[in-house]
Amino acid sequence: MRLTFNNVLPTVVLFSGIASAFSGHDSASALQHKRTPLKPRRVQSLLINPDAQPDLPTVQAATAAATAVGLNLDDIQGDLLRAKLAADILPLITTTNQLLAVATQPITALNIAFSQTGLTALNVTDSLGDSFFSKGQLADAKNLGTTNWVPEFTRTGIHGVILFASDSDDNINNAVASLEAAMGDSITKVYSLSAASRPAPNAGHEHFGFLDGISNPAIIGFTGTPMPGQSNISAGSILVGETGDSGSRPAWAKDGSFLVFRQLKQLVPEFNKFLTDNPIVMNGLTPQQGSDLLGARMVGRWKSGAPVDLAPIFDDPVLGADPTRNNDFTFQHPDAVLSTNQTRCPFSAHIRKTRPRADLGTPEETTHHIMRAGIPYGPEVSGAEASSNTTSTERGLAFVSYQSNIGNGFRFLQQTWADNANFVHSGVGVDPIIGALAGAQRVVTGLDPTNSTKKTTLTTDFVVSRGGEYFFSPSLSAIASKLSV
Ligand code: HEM
Repeated sequence: MRLTFNNVLPTVVLFSGIASAFSGHDSASALQHKRTPLKPRRVQSLLINPDAQPDLPTVQAATAAATAVGLNLDDIQGDLLRAKLAADILPLITTTNQLLAVATQPITALNIAFSQTGLTALNVTDSLGDSFFSKGQLADAKNLGTTNWVPEFTRTGIHGVILFASDSDDNINNAVASLEAAMGDSITKVYSLSAASRPAPNAGHEHFGFLDGISNPAIIGFTGTPMPGQSNISAGSILVGETGDSGSRPAWAKDGSFLVFRQLKQLVPEFNKFLTDNPIVMNGLTPQQGSDLLGARMVGRWKSGAPVDLAPIFDDPVLGADPTRNNDFTFQHPDAVLSTNQTRCPFSAHIRKTRPRADLGTPEETTHHIMRAGIPYGPEVSGAEASSNTTSTERGLAFVSYQSNIGNGFRFLQQTWADNANFVHSGVGVDPIIGALAGAQRVVTGLDPTNSTKKTTLTTDFVVSRGGEYFFSPSLSAIASKLSV
């Protein structure tokens, strides 16, 4: 999903006790020292760019686009733009620009973000203007339909999160060890989650098997010309204080972003059994093809990434791998009524719920967009799990999204759209992938292209939230000026 790293093994470490971590003169000078240019250390990119995904801009192209709208890509943590991990608080932080060229990428990229409790511990008392952030995700749990939280997320006292990313366990372990050594007892590891892109041939695919990270918004001032069908949004939809962010923010928060972290467990054998047991029955389809079609209609894309809106009955891997075509659709077709027709893509499909495109009118609305940067965690399904159709070892998605406003971003997509059986039209049902009704059975319509009013009852939540936290990922200058003095 989202992250397209080369065998990257990200580790998410949640910590507490940052009060002394960034305070005091020593840390401030250390941070200033760290801003010296990086020496080239990599010969192979930390990031991969699969065919199916739009290319990253070059440093020159990104700088030109950013200059035109006044964005400073040397001040923005590298994970924010097009969802690439970056940075290293000790001894260095990598910027978006540095991530764009192999020669300046770090061996292990690192990104840091703080919870409201963490900012308070740093004596940062001004409001960031986001009530969901300031109350924390636990206070929001009942609105997100989840009950099965990891215990560490249910306790107060998570002050921040550090995301490490590299291409070997050794690199990650070294980076964690040197950070822990440098920080001494000023921070305590509360919880960590190791994630990794799946082994070939499933690299870039989430655990249900679908290629991910295809559709992230283009950012005006970073991406240059959007790919066909890619949403094109103001920097202020993702970055606080930029054009398009209507919130009231303190000046130091400019160019930071709110980071939503969720540990989303996926019941893969159970999902596969559901598909096997309920193939779509159509002339010319084998049971296996009917099962594959059902899965594709639940997501809105085939496992190859091809959208069902353009490939409604059979997968089209060539289309899936072509970034000039695989996002170029709106759900609108001259031969069909947009508000009723589901023969190509169900209204409830995951990608239609979370980005309704023409369903909300054209040009597309630009308020409710997020930059996704999650990555799978947990092992591949074992033979015993597959044959028993039962998960015995947890796996899922370490979900990360960036937005300038949690209520307009992640929360809106999850609660107002995915969990709402009456969005985008009355009675269409919840998102069959991430929609949740606090464990109650879920009714979805539109999954069967031969009978759009047929109701499908899902008795299992194939995605179960284990909780998470809301964080703020500051710009580099905010860390150096506001958070280190
Ligand atoms: C385990 C949980 C999840 C799985 C397995 C999953 C899977 C996928 C897949 C396979 C795609 C299609 C690839 C792409 O367009 O990049 C996708 C797209 C997307 N997902 Fe998820 N996702 C999950 C959770 C979430 C959550 C929690 C949200 C937000 C609340 C979300 C929002 C989106 C959005 C906005 C898109 C892109 C839609 C578009 O632009 O067309 N996803 N997801």
